[in-house]
Amino acid sequence: MDINQRMNELIEKINLYNESYYQNNESIISDQAFDQLLAELIQLELKNPLFARSDSPTQKVGGTITKEFKSVTHQFPMLSLGNTYSETDLRDFDERVKKGLEGESFEYVCELKFDGVALSFWYTNGVLQKGVTRGDGSRGDDITANVKTIKSLPIRVNSTLLPASYEIRGEGYMPITSFDRINAAKVAKGDQPLANPRNAASGTFKMQDSAEVARREMECFIYSYLGNENPFNSHSEALEHLRSVGFSVSQTYRVCASIDDVITYISDWAEKRNDLPLNTDGIVIKVNDFGQQERLGFTAKSPRWAISFKYPSEIARTKIVSIAYQVGRTGNVTPVANLSPVYLAGTVIKRASIHNANEMERLDLREGDTVFIEKGGEIIPKITGVDISARKQGEVFVFPTHCPSCATELIRQEGEANHYCPNDSGCPPQIKGKLEHFIARKALNIENLGTETVDVLFEKGIVSNVADLYDLSAEKFLGLDGFQAKSIQNILFSIEKSKGIPFRQVLFGLGIRHVGATIAEKLVLHYHSLDNLISATLDELIAIPEIGERIALSVLEYFSKPQNLEIIERLKSSGVQFSEEISEIVLETTALEGKSFVISGVFNHFDRDELKAKIIANGGKVVSSISAKLDYLVAGENMGPAKLEKANSLSIPIISEDEFLALLS
Ligand code: IVH
Repeated sequence: MDINQRMNELIEKINLYNESYYQNNESIISDQAFDQLLAELIQLELKNPLFARSDSPTQKVGGTITKEFKSVTHQFPMLSLGNTYSETDLRDFDERVKKGLEGESFEYVCELKFDGVALSFWYTNGVLQKGVTRGDGSRGDDITANVKTIKSLPIRVNSTLLPASYEIRGEGYMPITSFDRINAAKVAKGDQPLANPRNAASGTFKMQDSAEVARREMECFIYSYLGNENPFNSHSEALEHLRSVGFSVSQTYRVCASIDDVITYISDWAEKRNDLPLNTDGIVIKVNDFGQQERLGFTAKSPRWAISFKYPSEIARTKIVSIAYQVGRTGNVTPVANLSPVYLAGTVIKRASIHNANEMERLDLREGDTVFIEKGGEIIPKITGVDISARKQGEVFVFPTHCPSCATELIRQEGEANHYCPNDSGCPPQIKGKLEHFIARKALNIENLGTETVDVLFEKGIVSNVADLYDLSAEKFLGLDGFQAKSIQNILFSIEKSKGIPFRQVLFGLGIRHVGATIAEKLVLHYHSLDNLISATLDELIAIPEIGERIALSVLEYFSKPQNLEIIERLKSSGVQFSEEISEIVLETTALEGKSFVISGVFNHFDRDELKAKIIANGGKVVSSISAKLDYLVAGENMGPAKLEKANSLSIPIISEDEFLALLS
C-alpha cells in the first residue's frame, strides 16, 4: 500500500471511531489503539506534507501556529438580536410578528441563548473550509485552525440534502468543566485566573497556537443554517437535519405554537439552565418558517423574526463616589455614577449609567448612597435601586442646568427624558463625537482615520467640523507627533475615497438627532437628493411610513441652522455625494401579482438577480424555500435534486425560463 493510500485509510478509520464516539456515544476501539492510529497519521502527515488533507482528523489536536489572523468578509452579515427583559416586551414582539405576517398562523422556535462567542463555519462540497469570528458583523477573523479543534464540529459532512456551499453558525464556548480545570491549574501556579467562561472562550479562539486551543477542549452549539440555496422549509427542519449529519445541536430547543408556550419555555428553563455544561443568559425566540422569516426581514441591526429574552441578571451592592455628566455626539447629557469598585457577574464594576434626569429623580440619589447595580443588555451596568436602610444624610444630587463642557444652558424638550446641550457647533465633546460618527464604517467609512487621530486634529485646532476633513493636506500634519508620511498618505487617500460613499451613508454620517442608518435610507428612498430633503415640509415628512413627528422635527431643525447648511455646501463642493438614485420599484406589469416564486439553477437569458428583479418588477414575490403555498418553481439547469423532489411532492408547478417569460405576456 502506498503512503497516500495508508493516510486515507487512517483518516477513514479515525473518522469512523470518532463518529461512533461523538454521535452514538459508543466506544468501539480502546483509547490506546485509537491514539496509536492518530499518532501514525500525525507522523505520516509531518513527513509527507503534500499528502496532508485539510479535513484530516489530526486537525482536532491542533498544532498550527497563526501569526496574524486574516480578516475575511462575511458572506451574510452577522447581526445581533434585539433584547427583551419582560413578558410585556415579548408580547409586543409577538404583536409585531403577527402584524408583519398579516394574521397568518406561525410557530416559534425557542432556544437557549448560549453565552460564548458567535462563530461562522463555511462548508464547500461537504468539507469545512473556514471558521470565522463575528468581528464587527461585516468582517471577522479567520480562525480555521482553532475551530477545527472543536471535537463535535464535523470537518466533513455527508448529506444528500445540503447544497455545494453553505454556512453554519453557532456559539463557540468553553465548557464550565474546562474553565474550572484551567483555573484550578492557573491558581496552583500562582497565575491570574480567567475571569469568566465567555471571556475565556473569546480569548481562546484568538490564540495563535491551535494545540493550546485543543487542550482547552472548546465546544460549539449550532443554531443557524445560511446559504444562497436553502433546502429547508423551517429552522427546526434545518436543526434536525444538521444534527442528523453530525452537528452538535442542543437538545434544549422547543417548537412553540404561541407566545404563551414561549413564556412557559422561559419559566421551564429559568432554573434548569444552571445544570447545563455552559452558561446561558437568556433564550432566543425565532419564527420557525423560513418563508415567513424572509417576509419579516431585517432592520439595520437585527432580524424582525427573532428576539432574545434575558433572564434577570445578578445584582451587586456598592457605594456611589460621585456623578459625572457626559455629553454625547448629539448633545445628550448622560449622568454616570462613579462607584466604589465591586465584583458583578465576572467583572469588576467601577461605573454605572443612570440614563437621564428622570431616572435620577426616580432613584432620588444622595451623596454617599449605597446602591444596587445590575448588568442588563448594555455593557455599562445600571443602577436599579438604593439601599435606603444604609442611607446617611447626604445632599441630593441635582442635575446640572448648564453643559459641564461648554457651560451653555441645557434644554429639555417637553415629553423627552434627556437634557441636551444645544451648542452643537461649539461644544467640544459634541464636535469630537460628530467627527467620530462621520468617519465610522457605516457612515463615510474613512478607514485610515481613527478616532484618536480625529481627536488630535480637533485638539490642535486643525479640524473643527466634518467639512474641514476635506481641506486636510500633508502640510497640515507638519509638526504633529507620530505621523509618518505613509500614514498621512493613507489618511488622505481614504478621505478621497469617501467621496464615492452613497448619499444614504452621508446622510446618516451628518449625525442628525434620531436619524439612524435605517431612517436615513428611508429618507433617501423618498427624496433622492439633499436638495429635495431640505425643502420637505413637516406634513410631507410625517407622511412617510416610519417617520414620526420626533424624527421629522429633528430633520427640519437640522436644516434650519445656517451653520449646518454651510457645512453641507462645503462638503458638496468637495465632491461628497448628496444624491442617489435608489428607487421604490415601479412595476412593469402586474402580471405576477400575488404569485410567489422560488428560483433554482442556472438560466440562459438572465442571471439569478436579473430574474429576481423581473419577478418583482411584474408584481411577484421571490421566496427562498419551497412550501405548499408556493405558486411556481422556476427551474434552470443544474437545479438541486432536493428542491425538485420537494416541489414534486407538494405538486408545485415547475416552469422553465421560457414558460416564465410566457407568464409575463
Ligand atoms: S441566533 C441574527 N441563537 O446571541 C442573530 N444566537 O445577539 C441570529 N446566541 O452573537 C443569532 N445563542 O452569538 C442565536 N440560540 C442562539 C444563540 C445566539 C447565543 C448569540 C449569538 C449572537 C447573539 C445575538
